[in-house]
Amino acid sequence: MSQSDLEAIHRAPPFSLVIFGASGDLAYRKLLPALFTLACNDLLPEEYVILGASRTPYTDERFRTHIRKGVEEFGRIKPSECDRWPAFAEHLFYQHLQYDAPEDFKALQQRLEALETAHQVAPNRLFYLAIPPSLYSTVVENLGEVGFSQEKEGHFARLIVEKPFGTDYESARALNTHIHRYFREDQIYRIDHYLGKETVQNLLVFRFANAIFEPLWNRHYIDHVQISVLESVAVGNRGSYYDQAGVMRDMFQNHLMQLLSLTAMEPPNEWDATQLRDEKMKVLRAVRPPKDGALRTNTVRAQYRATDGSGPTYRLEPGVDPQSDTPTYAALMLFIDNWRWKGVPFYLRSGKALAAKTTEIYVQFKEVPHLLFEAQGVDLAPNALSICLQPHEGFHLRFQTKVPGAGMRTRDVDMRFNFATTFGDKSLPEAYERLLLDAVLGDASLFSREDEILASWRLIDSILHGWEAGEGPPLTYYEPGSWGPVAAENMLAVDGRAWSVDCFKSYAPG
Ligand code: BG6
Repeated sequence: MSQSDLEAIHRAPPFSLVIFGASGDLAYRKLLPALFTLACNDLLPEEYVILGASRTPYTDERFRTHIRKGVEEFGRIKPSECDRWPAFAEHLFYQHLQYDAPEDFKALQQRLEALETAHQVAPNRLFYLAIPPSLYSTVVENLGEVGFSQEKEGHFARLIVEKPFGTDYESARALNTHIHRYFREDQIYRIDHYLGKETVQNLLVFRFANAIFEPLWNRHYIDHVQISVLESVAVGNRGSYYDQAGVMRDMFQNHLMQLLSLTAMEPPNEWDATQLRDEKMKVLRAVRPPKDGALRTNTVRAQYRATDGSGPTYRLEPGVDPQSDTPTYAALMLFIDNWRWKGVPFYLRSGKALAAKTTEIYVQFKEVPHLLFEAQGVDLAPNALSICLQPHEGFHLRFQTKVPGAGMRTRDVDMRFNFATTFGDKSLPEAYERLLLDAVLGDASLFSREDEILASWRLIDSILHGWEAGEGPPLTYYEPGSWGPVAAENMLAVDGRAWSVDCFKSYAPG
């Protein structure tokens, strides 16, 4: 298939996208920059309408000027680099509305229909909720009541919902039920932007387009797996949201559980949203929630606190309760009770205000059964594969080699593949480019299904409830700028293991 055939398949059909929360940060930094990049890459059709809707009273013109700034600052492709801005801007419109005013949704409907007629856009509609979660239900109801969820024959109506989807199992279930009053499950696209990341998708290609790894991908050859999503940023000005959420709701329920299920799932029969999500669901169902004693030994929760006052302290962040026990870091040791993974620990960790931003999946293989050689100075390190997801993307495979010279001494070396070297720096699309295009194309593979969200909440809730009931470990602290609390190191050390920061080390300057 030629490149132009491929592009034609991935070019979106005519559509209208209504973005609620269009004057907000997400639209400014991510959504509109992603749409402009799609336009510059010829992936948008001739006929489309992007209608921003929010409370700020912009005119179309002011909205376009505002968005242009965001695209210039945050776009992968900027208006100064691609001459399509004037044409793109002609597809941008704005409708001022109050989210709880049904009459404003009637006005929105009239405006959208008028735009569709004027620009000859078929009524293929997407409604993007880039608004605070507390407004989701109201907007969905108003959309439903004016009939926006109904699909005209041969056309579609889709709802795109940002995270967080609920704050626990019950609220997520209630939100699903509410949305289903108007939209069917296959009309709903729940965003987890990690699934839009190129290297996260590559995990599937790596596993299922290569014959040599899959036979080793199980309890017979793998000692343990680590999934680390570490951030250097502190909570900053998001304190009032974060203090309610904490790292478990903010990062584990969605991003880490997605990475876990993609790493551990069985191969689906084909690239198809239902099959892919069915396989991920099987993993989520098989994860054993840490209970009783295991909650104390297999979980860690911690907060950043600068002992010498030289860095940020979580309890002093604006919007945070000075007595807050909300964890900004957590580490879990989980087990997946199925034939492939029985007995293999999956260590997950994530936190804020750490030494560096780095996301890594580290797979350590078992040691050789019988050792013939002497390792140089240290124990012979087992084979390991590091999948580096961000900010530097690549794979490293560690294996042993002979040290040149007399004797049979060995040393571990690293075989590396870097995306940037092979494909060039500019080639990795932003997550939202992929997700927006897939939503228009109707491919829900990279969106979370209702049952996935609920299964993941069930696990996170059980841990949070255990902690609240005093069955977990005490809250500990870590220095901002460190790699996390000692308790997390100890959780691995008792079994002779240590956290990997291989991806960070491989790319660190010097
Ligand atoms: C978001 C969280 O979902 O993901 C943030 O709410 C976090 O707290 C962010 O910083 C991390 O995303 P990324 O793409 O920078 O790894």
